[in-house]
Amino acid sequence: MADKLAALGGTPVVEAGSVRPWPHITDEDRKAVADVLAGEDLGVQRQAQEEGLAKDFAECLGVKHVVPVNSGTAALHCCVAGIGIEPGDEVICPAFTYWATAAAVLHHNGIPVFVDVEPDTWTLDPGRIEERITDRTRALLPVHIHGMPADMDPIKAIAKKHDLYVLEDCAQSHGATYKGGKCGALGDAAGFSSQASKLLTTGSYGGLFATNDDVIAERAKLLQYLGEIVVPGRERQMQKYNAYGLGWMYRGDVMGQAFIRSQLRRLDQNNALRAANCELLTELLADMPGVLTPIVPEGRGMAWYTYTVRFDPQAVGLELTAPDFRARAERALQAEGVPVGRWQTIPVPGQNIFQAKVGYGKGCPWTCRHASHEVSYDLADYPVAQEFVDSQMYVFGVNPPNGADLMREFAAAFEKLMAQPEELLKIEM
Ligand SMILES: Cc1ncc(COP(=O)(O)O)c(C=O)c1O
Repeated sequence: MADKLAALGGTPVVEAGSVRPWPHITDEDRKAVADVLAGEDLGVQRQAQEEGLAKDFAECLGVKHVVPVNSGTAALHCCVAGIGIEPGDEVICPAFTYWATAAAVLHHNGIPVFVDVEPDTWTLDPGRIEERITDRTRALLPVHIHGMPADMDPIKAIAKKHDLYVLEDCAQSHGATYKGGKCGALGDAAGFSSQASKLLTTGSYGGLFATNDDVIAERAKLLQYLGEIVVPGRERQMQKYNAYGLGWMYRGDVMGQAFIRSQLRRLDQNNALRAANCELLTELLADMPGVLTPIVPEGRGMAWYTYTVRFDPQAVGLELTAPDFRARAERALQAEGVPVGRWQTIPVPGQNIFQAKVGYGKGCPWTCRHASHEVSYDLADYPVAQEFVDSQMYVFGVNPPNGADLMREFAAAFEKLMAQPEELLKIEM
């Protein structure tokens, strides 16, 4: 007889305190941050860390320009401004993402237009893009969500055909590759987040803008310093106090920059450990009836930001909907000590700002005379994104220093549940 579920009073499979947090901090990281404070002149450090990070990350990606900023949203806004988006211009984004992707477009008075995602990869569906292209469309903004690279070849082919820019949202995909090329170096410009949960992080907030294009880089540099021209560390000597255009204050923080530079040295190693954990989980869960593990198509070098699982209740003889089963399984697994949960609860176009078209007030930017007033945010247009947010569950804790032993415990908790799925019906919801 199977052990009693922890949610019904049994003993949890995973002991409390077994899951180690992210980021994994080492003595090298501690020294990197302490060294910033070791000298007397922080101005020297600000220049060294900002320029050093720009150089290190540009080398890592193989691009010409990187601008460190204070969030992924700011980095994406630099992309949007960098390609010269003007009021009313439309940018195509996937319906499943964090809404910051679309916010970065709105920040520049652009209009986000959403396209549904592919069923297996949750990334922008190239087959649905062209039906949303209008004479106002200027760019495609695929998101390599959860570290899964979007299908860039057809996306780039569509962009070429319609003379559009391609921007990459790499907030969750540091180190991901597509057919051997690095995500972040595949389009015209890219924005990375380095917020605390990300694969490469400052430990708090941060972002990295990347491009190979000199003009896009110049515009991004202006945007992130209030429209002024500055040289990091030489602001007082060089600044002309003349704004060349509208800008924001998006500059990064010296401590975070020192920390992320140290973390960058272990990005590949950390990503490889995550991949090993996730591949082991897939191996252990793959044959469990009712559990559907992630599918990674050929050529997509996934960077495992999170691990996602879906359920098929009918496969274990339960007449529950997938969302109901997921909610019960989530409750049961949490009680077993497995860190699982949900992320988005509705596709981005379903969020209030798009349903009510309330941006800056008075309906702006949708009421702007340059914008089309017909852009539709009908949730019925995004069934795949809806299905994904309803039925997926995330397994967290796949980050190093957690390893194979913990993954086996996670799998054992799934096994305990799936051996007695009817017990899930007893859980009070
Ligand atoms: C897909 C995606 N895009 C953009 C962002 C925005 O990054 P940040 O929170 O650093 O502004 C995030 C952050 O979670 C994200 O997940």
